[in-house]
Amino acid sequence: MILGDENNNKQNKKTNGAIKPVELEAIELELDRTYEKNIRPKTFDDYIGQNSIKETLKITIEAAKKRNVQLDHILLYGPPGLGKTTLANIIANECNVSIKITSAPALERPRDIIGILMSLKEGEILFIDEIHRLNKIAEEILYPAMEDYTIDLTTGKSQTVKTMRVPVQKFTLIGATTKAGALSGPLRDRFGVIHRLEFYTNEELSRVIKRSAKILNIKINDEGADEIAKRARCTPRIANRLIKRASDWALVKGDGIITKQTASDALDALNIDKEGLDTTDRELLSLIIKNYNGGPVGVETLAVALGEDIRTVEDVVEPYLLQAGFLNRTQRGRCVTQKAYEHLGINKNKNGQMGLF
Ligand code: ADE
Repeated sequence: MILGDENNNKQNKKTNGAIKPVELEAIELELDRTYEKNIRPKTFDDYIGQNSIKETLKITIEAAKKRNVQLDHILLYGPPGLGKTTLANIIANECNVSIKITSAPALERPRDIIGILMSLKEGEILFIDEIHRLNKIAEEILYPAMEDYTIDLTTGKSQTVKTMRVPVQKFTLIGATTKAGALSGPLRDRFGVIHRLEFYTNEELSRVIKRSAKILNIKINDEGADEIAKRARCTPRIANRLIKRASDWALVKGDGIITKQTASDALDALNIDKEGLDTTDRELLSLIIKNYNGGPVGVETLAVALGEDIRTVEDVVEPYLLQAGFLNRTQRGRCVTQKAYEHLGINKNKNGQMGLF
Protein backbone atom coordinates (compact mmCIF):
# COMPACT_ATOMS: atom_id res chain seq x y z
CA MET A 1 0.00 0.00 0.00
CA ILE A 2 1.21 3.49 -0.75
CA LEU A 3 0.49 6.01 1.93
CA GLY A 4 0.07 9.69 1.16
CA ASP A 5 -1.50 8.97 -2.22
CA GLU A 6 -4.93 10.01 -1.12
CA ASN A 7 -4.36 13.76 -1.04
CA ASN A 8 -3.64 15.87 -4.05
CA ASN A 9 -0.99 17.85 -2.19
CA LYS A 10 1.35 20.66 -3.11
CA GLN A 11 4.36 18.40 -3.12
CA ASN A 12 2.75 16.17 -5.76
CA LYS A 13 2.03 19.16 -7.94
CA LYS A 14 5.68 20.19 -7.72
CA THR A 15 6.73 16.89 -9.26
CA ASN A 16 5.07 17.83 -12.53
CA GLY A 17 7.83 19.32 -14.62
CA ALA A 18 11.30 20.49 -13.73
CA ILE A 19 12.01 21.51 -10.15
CA LYS A 20 14.13 24.58 -9.61
CA PRO A 21 16.40 24.82 -6.56
CA VAL A 22 14.31 27.73 -5.22
CA GLU A 23 11.19 25.59 -5.34
CA LEU A 24 13.02 22.77 -3.57
CA GLU A 25 14.07 25.16 -0.86
CA ALA A 26 10.48 26.29 -0.44
CA ILE A 27 9.31 22.69 -0.19
CA GLU A 28 12.00 22.02 2.38
CA LEU A 29 10.97 25.03 4.47
CA GLU A 30 7.34 24.11 4.26
CA LEU A 31 8.14 20.55 5.30
CA ASP A 32 10.17 21.82 8.25
CA ARG A 33 7.31 23.90 9.56
CA THR A 34 4.66 21.26 9.00
CA TYR A 35 6.96 18.74 10.57
CA GLU A 36 7.31 20.47 13.90
CA LYS A 37 3.66 21.33 14.14
CA ASN A 38 1.94 18.24 12.92
CA ILE A 39 3.81 15.02 13.39
CA ARG A 40 4.20 15.09 17.14
CA PRO A 41 1.53 12.80 18.62
CA LYS A 42 -0.79 14.64 20.96
CA THR A 43 -2.56 11.78 22.72
CA PHE A 44 -1.56 8.36 24.10
CA ASP A 45 -3.57 6.78 21.29
CA ASP A 46 -1.46 8.53 18.65
CA TYR A 47 1.79 7.70 20.39
CA ILE A 48 3.39 4.51 19.09
CA GLY A 49 5.64 2.34 21.28
CA GLN A 50 6.65 2.55 24.97
CA ASN A 51 3.53 0.51 25.68
CA SER A 52 4.11 -0.36 29.31
CA ILE A 53 5.05 3.25 30.17
CA LYS A 54 1.92 4.47 28.40
CA GLU A 55 -0.32 2.04 30.27
CA THR A 56 1.19 2.89 33.66
CA LEU A 57 1.00 6.62 32.99
CA LYS A 58 -2.65 6.35 31.96
CA ILE A 59 -3.43 4.70 35.31
CA THR A 60 -1.39 7.26 37.27
CA ILE A 61 -3.23 10.10 35.53
CA GLU A 62 -6.65 8.48 35.95
CA ALA A 63 -6.02 7.82 39.67
CA ALA A 64 -4.92 11.42 40.28
CA LYS A 65 -8.09 12.62 38.53
CA LYS A 66 -10.29 10.29 40.61
CA ARG A 67 -8.65 11.36 43.86
CA ASN A 68 -8.74 14.96 42.73
CA VAL A 69 -5.08 15.43 43.65
CA GLN A 70 -2.13 16.88 41.80
CA LEU A 71 -0.33 14.37 39.57
CA ASP A 72 2.93 13.12 41.12
CA HIS A 73 6.25 14.42 39.78
CA ILE A 74 7.53 12.27 36.92
CA LEU A 75 11.08 11.48 35.82
CA LEU A 76 11.56 10.22 32.26
CA TYR A 77 14.97 8.96 31.27
CA GLY A 78 16.62 7.29 28.34
CA PRO A 79 18.66 8.06 25.22
CA PRO A 80 17.86 11.17 23.19
CA GLY A 81 15.14 11.13 20.54
CA LEU A 82 12.88 8.48 22.10
CA GLY A 83 10.06 10.90 22.91
CA LYS A 84 10.49 12.25 26.45
CA THR A 85 9.33 15.76 25.50
CA THR A 86 6.53 14.31 23.40
CA LEU A 87 5.31 12.23 26.35
CA ALA A 88 5.41 15.27 28.63
CA ASN A 89 3.23 17.18 26.16
CA ILE A 90 0.84 14.24 25.93
CA ILE A 91 0.57 14.03 29.73
CA ALA A 92 -0.31 17.73 29.86
CA ASN A 93 -2.84 17.26 27.09
CA GLU A 94 -4.42 14.20 28.74
CA CYS A 95 -4.64 16.08 32.05
CA ASN A 96 -6.11 19.11 30.30
CA VAL A 97 -3.47 21.46 31.70
CA SER A 98 -0.87 23.70 30.14
CA ILE A 99 2.85 22.96 30.14
CA LYS A 100 5.89 25.20 30.56
CA ILE A 101 8.99 23.81 28.91
CA THR A 102 12.53 24.67 29.91
CA SER A 103 15.90 22.98 30.31
CA ALA A 104 18.37 22.90 33.18
CA PRO A 105 21.06 24.97 31.42
CA ALA A 106 18.48 27.79 31.11
CA LEU A 107 18.02 27.81 34.90
CA GLU A 108 21.49 28.94 35.78
CA ARG A 109 20.66 31.77 38.23
CA PRO A 110 18.37 31.36 41.28
CA ARG A 111 16.02 33.95 39.82
CA ASP A 112 15.52 31.79 36.71
CA ILE A 113 14.06 28.86 38.62
CA ILE A 114 12.25 31.10 41.14
CA GLY A 115 10.71 33.09 38.30
CA ILE A 116 9.40 30.04 36.52
CA LEU A 117 8.07 28.43 39.72
CA MET A 118 6.25 31.62 40.68
CA SER A 119 4.75 31.95 37.23
CA LEU A 120 3.13 28.49 37.28
CA LYS A 121 -0.63 28.31 37.12
CA GLU A 122 -2.64 25.90 39.29
CA GLY A 123 -2.15 22.32 38.12
CA GLU A 124 0.30 23.26 35.37
CA ILE A 125 3.13 21.00 34.26
CA LEU A 126 6.73 22.18 34.42
CA PHE A 127 8.98 20.23 32.07
CA ILE A 128 12.72 20.48 32.75
CA ASP A 129 14.87 18.84 30.11
CA GLU A 130 18.41 17.66 30.90
CA ILE A 131 17.45 17.85 34.57
CA HIS A 132 20.73 16.17 35.60
CA ARG A 133 22.42 19.46 34.69
CA LEU A 134 20.61 21.53 37.35
CA ASN A 135 23.05 23.27 39.66
CA LYS A 136 22.98 22.75 43.43
CA ILE A 137 21.29 26.06 44.23
CA ALA A 138 18.52 25.48 41.68
CA GLU A 139 18.03 21.96 43.04
CA GLU A 140 17.67 23.24 46.57
CA ILE A 141 15.11 25.80 45.50
CA LEU A 142 13.21 23.01 43.79
CA TYR A 143 13.03 20.62 46.78
CA PRO A 144 10.40 22.44 48.91
CA ALA A 145 8.55 23.41 45.72
CA MET A 146 8.26 19.73 44.79
CA GLU A 147 7.41 18.62 48.30
CA ASP A 148 4.87 21.15 49.50
CA TYR A 149 4.62 23.79 46.80
CA THR A 150 6.61 26.45 48.61
CA ILE A 151 9.86 28.24 47.93
CA ASP A 152 12.26 29.89 50.32
CA LEU A 153 13.12 33.41 49.27
CA THR A 154 16.08 35.15 50.89
CA THR A 155 16.36 38.92 51.22
CA GLY A 156 19.09 41.21 52.59
CA LYS A 157 22.79 40.59 52.91
CA SER A 158 25.05 38.66 55.35
CA GLN A 159 23.94 39.61 58.94
CA THR A 160 20.53 40.92 57.89
CA VAL A 161 19.64 38.00 55.66
CA LYS A 162 16.02 36.86 56.04
CA THR A 163 14.30 33.83 54.62
CA MET A 164 10.67 33.97 53.65
CA ARG A 165 8.65 30.92 52.76
CA VAL A 166 6.19 31.69 49.96
CA PRO A 167 3.64 29.43 48.30
CA VAL A 168 3.61 28.50 44.64
CA GLN A 169 0.69 26.92 42.79
CA LYS A 170 0.34 23.15 42.81
CA PHE A 171 2.22 21.79 39.83
CA THR A 172 3.71 18.61 38.43
CA LEU A 173 7.36 18.54 37.54
CA ILE A 174 8.31 16.31 34.63
CA GLY A 175 12.08 15.91 34.49
CA ALA A 176 13.82 14.41 31.49
CA THR A 177 17.35 13.12 31.37
CA THR A 178 19.64 10.94 29.33
CA LYS A 179 21.52 10.13 32.52
CA ALA A 180 19.42 9.11 35.49
CA GLY A 181 22.62 8.09 37.28
CA ALA A 182 23.88 11.68 37.21
CA LEU A 183 20.88 12.95 39.19
CA SER A 184 21.52 13.64 42.86
CA GLY A 185 19.86 11.16 45.25
CA PRO A 186 17.65 13.78 46.95
CA LEU A 187 16.32 15.04 43.64
CA ARG A 188 15.65 11.55 42.29
CA ASP A 189 13.83 10.63 45.52
CA ARG A 190 11.34 13.46 45.03
CA PHE A 191 9.90 11.94 41.88
CA GLY A 192 6.91 9.70 42.60
CA VAL A 193 7.02 8.13 39.13
CA ILE A 194 10.19 7.11 37.27
CA HIS A 195 10.18 5.61 33.77
CA ARG A 196 12.96 4.53 31.45
CA LEU A 197 12.17 4.91 27.76
CA GLU A 198 13.24 1.95 25.65
CA PHE A 199 14.63 1.88 22.14
CA TYR A 200 11.94 1.20 19.50
CA THR A 201 11.60 -2.03 17.57
CA ASN A 202 11.81 -1.86 13.76
CA GLU A 203 8.13 -2.67 13.56
CA GLU A 204 7.22 0.22 15.86
CA LEU A 205 9.50 2.58 13.95
CA SER A 206 7.97 1.52 10.69
CA ARG A 207 4.56 2.50 12.08
CA VAL A 208 5.95 5.85 13.29
CA ILE A 209 7.35 6.45 9.78
CA LYS A 210 4.09 5.62 8.02
CA ARG A 211 2.13 7.80 10.44
CA SER A 212 4.46 10.78 9.88
CA ALA A 213 4.50 10.22 6.11
CA LYS A 214 0.73 10.24 6.02
CA ILE A 215 0.55 13.52 7.96
CA LEU A 216 3.19 15.08 5.73
CA ASN A 217 1.62 13.77 2.52
CA ILE A 218 4.77 11.86 1.69
CA LYS A 219 4.20 8.77 -0.43
CA ILE A 220 5.87 5.68 0.98
CA ASN A 221 5.26 1.96 0.64
CA ASP A 222 5.68 -0.67 3.37
CA GLU A 223 9.12 -1.77 2.17
CA GLY A 224 10.32 1.84 2.01
CA ALA A 225 9.16 2.42 5.59
CA ASP A 226 10.84 -0.81 6.74
CA GLU A 227 14.11 0.19 5.08
CA ILE A 228 14.15 3.57 6.84
CA ALA A 229 13.14 1.89 10.12
CA LYS A 230 16.08 -0.54 9.92
CA ARG A 231 18.53 2.32 9.58
CA ALA A 232 17.03 4.73 12.13
CA ARG A 233 18.91 3.51 15.21
CA CYS A 234 15.68 2.43 16.93
CA THR A 235 14.92 6.16 17.42
CA PRO A 236 11.78 7.97 16.18
CA ARG A 237 13.48 11.37 15.97
CA ILE A 238 16.04 9.92 13.58
CA ALA A 239 13.37 8.03 11.63
CA ASN A 240 11.41 11.23 11.11
CA ARG A 241 14.53 13.03 9.91
CA LEU A 242 15.37 10.24 7.50
CA ILE A 243 11.88 10.26 5.95
CA LYS A 244 12.53 13.83 4.96
CA ARG A 245 15.82 12.95 3.29
CA ALA A 246 14.34 9.92 1.55
CA SER A 247 11.40 12.07 0.42
CA ASP A 248 13.81 14.61 -1.11
CA TRP A 249 15.56 11.77 -2.89
CA ALA A 250 12.33 10.22 -4.15
CA LEU A 251 11.19 13.61 -5.42
CA VAL A 252 14.38 14.44 -7.26
CA LYS A 253 15.69 11.05 -8.37
CA GLY A 254 12.56 8.90 -8.49
CA ASP A 255 8.84 9.18 -9.03
CA GLY A 256 8.07 10.75 -5.66
CA ILE A 257 7.35 7.48 -3.87
CA ILE A 258 9.68 6.22 -1.14
CA THR A 259 10.33 2.58 -1.97
CA LYS A 260 12.94 0.20 -0.55
CA GLN A 261 15.26 1.25 -3.38
CA THR A 262 14.84 5.04 -2.99
CA ALA A 263 15.17 4.78 0.80
CA SER A 264 18.27 2.64 0.43
CA ASP A 265 19.87 4.97 -2.16
CA ALA A 266 19.06 8.08 -0.13
CA LEU A 267 20.50 6.66 3.07
CA ASP A 268 23.58 5.26 1.31
CA ALA A 269 24.20 8.77 -0.03
CA LEU A 270 24.06 10.05 3.56
CA ASN A 271 26.63 7.43 4.59
CA ILE A 272 24.10 5.74 6.83
CA ASP A 273 24.80 2.04 6.45
CA LYS A 274 22.51 -1.02 6.61
CA GLU A 275 22.78 -1.14 10.43
CA GLY A 276 22.02 2.58 10.73
CA LEU A 277 25.59 3.48 11.65
CA ASP A 278 26.88 6.84 10.44
CA THR A 279 30.42 8.05 9.81
CA THR A 280 31.05 8.94 13.46
CA ASP A 281 29.88 5.50 14.66
CA ARG A 282 32.14 3.71 12.21
CA GLU A 283 35.04 6.02 13.06
CA LEU A 284 34.62 5.28 16.76
CA LEU A 285 34.54 1.51 16.24
CA SER A 286 37.46 1.42 13.83
CA LEU A 287 39.47 3.72 16.11
CA ILE A 288 39.08 1.25 18.98
CA ILE A 289 40.03 -1.64 16.71
CA LYS A 290 42.96 -0.05 14.93
CA ASN A 291 44.49 2.07 17.69
CA TYR A 292 43.54 0.13 20.81
CA ASN A 293 43.37 -3.49 19.64
CA GLY A 294 39.62 -3.59 20.19
CA GLY A 295 39.77 -1.97 23.65
CA PRO A 296 39.43 -1.34 26.48
CA VAL A 297 39.85 2.39 26.02
CA GLY A 298 38.49 5.31 28.05
CA VAL A 299 35.69 7.47 26.69
CA GLU A 300 37.79 10.62 27.22
CA THR A 301 40.47 9.29 24.89
CA LEU A 302 37.88 8.37 22.28
CA ALA A 303 36.21 11.77 22.47
CA VAL A 304 39.51 13.59 21.92
CA ALA A 305 40.46 11.33 19.01
CA LEU A 306 37.06 11.86 17.37
CA GLY A 307 37.03 15.60 18.02
CA GLU A 308 33.70 15.32 19.85
CA ASP A 309 32.91 16.27 23.42
CA ILE A 310 32.55 13.50 25.98
CA ARG A 311 28.88 14.23 26.55
CA THR A 312 28.10 13.74 22.85
CA VAL A 313 30.00 10.46 22.74
CA GLU A 314 28.35 9.17 25.92
CA ASP A 315 24.81 10.43 25.36
CA VAL A 316 24.39 10.43 21.61
CA VAL A 317 26.89 8.10 19.92
CA GLU A 318 27.34 5.25 22.38
CA PRO A 319 23.80 4.29 23.50
CA TYR A 320 22.81 2.79 20.15
CA LEU A 321 26.19 1.10 19.63
CA LEU A 322 25.74 -0.56 23.02
CA GLN A 323 22.11 -1.48 22.36
CA ALA A 324 22.88 -2.89 18.91
CA GLY A 325 25.76 -4.98 20.28
CA PHE A 326 28.71 -3.25 18.59
CA LEU A 327 30.23 -1.99 21.80
CA ASN A 328 30.61 -3.09 25.41
CA ARG A 329 31.16 -0.85 28.40
CA THR A 330 33.54 -2.41 30.92
CA GLN A 331 35.07 -1.04 34.10
CA ARG A 332 38.36 -0.57 32.24
CA GLY A 333 36.80 1.21 29.27
CA ARG A 334 35.03 0.58 25.96
CA CYS A 335 35.59 -2.60 23.93
CA VAL A 336 34.24 -3.42 20.49
CA THR A 337 32.46 -6.73 19.93
CA GLN A 338 32.94 -9.43 17.32
CA LYS A 339 29.88 -7.97 15.57
CA ALA A 340 31.77 -4.68 15.10
CA TYR A 341 34.72 -6.47 13.47
CA GLU A 342 32.35 -8.30 11.15
CA HIS A 343 30.35 -5.20 10.30
CA LEU A 344 33.46 -3.22 9.43
CA GLY A 345 34.93 -6.20 7.57
CA ILE A 346 38.03 -6.33 9.73
CA ASN A 347 39.46 -9.75 10.50
CA LYS A 348 40.31 -10.06 14.17
CA ASN A 349 42.48 -13.17 13.65
CA LYS A 350 44.77 -11.51 11.15
CA ASN A 351 45.41 -8.65 13.52
CA GLY A 352 46.32 -11.08 16.29
CA GLN A 353 43.66 -9.71 18.57
CA MET A 354 41.91 -12.88 19.66
CA GLY A 355 41.07 -13.24 23.30
CA LEU A 356 40.85 -9.53 24.04
CA PHE A 357 37.20 -9.56 25.10
N1 ADE B 1 6.75 10.68 16.17
C1 ADE B 1 7.79 10.67 16.97
N2 ADE B 1 7.65 9.77 17.95
C2 ADE B 1 6.47 9.17 17.75
C3 ADE B 1 5.76 8.14 18.42
N3 ADE B 1 6.26 7.53 19.50
N4 ADE B 1 4.59 7.76 17.93
C4 ADE B 1 4.09 8.37 16.85
N5 ADE B 1 4.71 9.34 16.19
C5 ADE B 1 5.90 9.75 16.62
